[in-house]
Amino acid sequence: MALTNTLRIFKNVKKLNYSFNSCIISRHLSLVPGEPPGPSVRTSIPGPNSKKMMADLDKIQYANAIWYFTDYKKSIGNYIVDADGNRLLDVFSQISSLPLGYNHPDLHRVVQDPDNQIAFINRPALGIFPSQGWPEKLTNSLLSIAPKGHTQVNTMACGSCSNENAFKATFMWYRNKQRGGAPITEEENSSCLINREPGSTPLTIMSFKDTWLSNHNAFEIDIQIRFSRPGLANCQFPTVQDHLKSSTREPKRGSQMFGEVEEEFLERSTKPGIICGRCWSASPFKPQGGDNHASPDLFQAVEEYPTKKVSALIIDEVQTGGGATGKYWCHEHFHLPEPADFVTFSKKMLTGGFYSLPEFRPQQGLKIFNTWMGDPSKILLLEKVVQVVKRDNLLNLAQESGRKLMDGLKDLSKRYPQHIKNNVRGIGTFCAFDLSSSQKRDETFVRLQQNGVQSGPCGDQTLRLRPSLIFQPHHADIFLSILEKVLNDIKSV
Ligand SMILES: Cc1ncc(COP(=O)(O)O)c(C=O)c1O
Repeated sequence: MALTNTLRIFKNVKKLNYSFNSCIISRHLSLVPGEPPGPSVRTSIPGPNSKKMMADLDKIQYANAIWYFTDYKKSIGNYIVDADGNRLLDVFSQISSLPLGYNHPDLHRVVQDPDNQIAFINRPALGIFPSQGWPEKLTNSLLSIAPKGHTQVNTMACGSCSNENAFKATFMWYRNKQRGGAPITEEENSSCLINREPGSTPLTIMSFKDTWLSNHNAFEIDIQIRFSRPGLANCQFPTVQDHLKSSTREPKRGSQMFGEVEEEFLERSTKPGIICGRCWSASPFKPQGGDNHASPDLFQAVEEYPTKKVSALIIDEVQTGGGATGKYWCHEHFHLPEPADFVTFSKKMLTGGFYSLPEFRPQQGLKIFNTWMGDPSKILLLEKVVQVVKRDNLLNLAQESGRKLMDGLKDLSKRYPQHIKNNVRGIGTFCAFDLSSSQKRDETFVRLQQNGVQSGPCGDQTLRLRPSLIFQPHHADIFLSILEKVLNDIKSV
């Protein structure tokens, strides 16, 4: 189905001036030179070129999760361009993993710098042969934005192995405490090789339900998850949406909500699988879980509970970290009385890894280890990202653009209650909203795409927004205007 050019929508976008950082940004002044004024859609999505490539790929691998093929050369700033020349405002940004949008000139300069090219060509086994200057690179990038109290950092390749290695470090910390610091015995050494106690333990990590770490059938059915999700115990997770639903509109105190978690913790700790770590995202959700955002007082309450002392707190900031909430670390919004024990990251940070407090540093070598343990070329890019975020004040921008998004979404939820539920939620640009049914969510997602917006579905009826850090208020206007058109189109069907 050929689609009409959606540029006409932009005639309806009010011409506005935005006051930001004491300078005026018109809707055409983008932080990335050459960014177009709006989307343009010429074919159905996926278009014929994408469909042909999907068929080619499908001969080699199962490819049905692909939405379309992308022309990364033409994609720029907040706009992704597909293989059929359709240009979409990207508020999903590669599953939330683009810090500075597409083809940011400062990142191009990093790659073009001859001094940096060595790092792109020679990927080291970082645990054994780091390049000279590696400690300074980590200090200038990851440690310069570390959460308070976190002086230790380990790099990893992706979010999953960042969490897995934080689990490993937690288990080691716990067992070391149990042994009272005594050396590992011969029996422990030999029994772990045949997966028997005492070397292998029945230790467990507890996570909330509906976080990325909770068991999720699409990823796990038929698969024996032995290590990556070590016997996760799931607790029902109190959400901001629950607050919004409650008749009183009064948020429950975090300690009251956390009581349920503690009961579960205590009950399970008396069983053979002892819980040694608790893990949750700062804004806990799992993509299929529907972007469930916890309330700040829940996190504050976590710190007050006595069982905190016998377990480690791992905050998974793989998706929430990197600045979209207006702070590098979402949990910084929650003013925890003490730092979390571990904070894991990936996505917008360009490298995976985890921070930890000094107490959790493993006492033996080759424990937190794999071949690559990250990639120094990504650290070069991250170093630049950190500079650009500071120079262009992008954390403030995330707050400013986020306010615009949230105000607009709340307004639409009031004016289109038949479509959008009254549970719009978000911090900075890290926002989500629910449609009134799964079918309507799917339809909204497709219609947004056809009108030039790439959003991200999650849960049964949620759309999540994960723009990159160069998303400005005028992009929010474009998004909201297209969303409103889509809501009207749905209404008229
Ligand atoms: C909160 C969270 N943790 C961990 C992961 C896993 O990261 P990766 O896909 O890089 O392995 C994700 C992925 O979306 C996530 O959202």
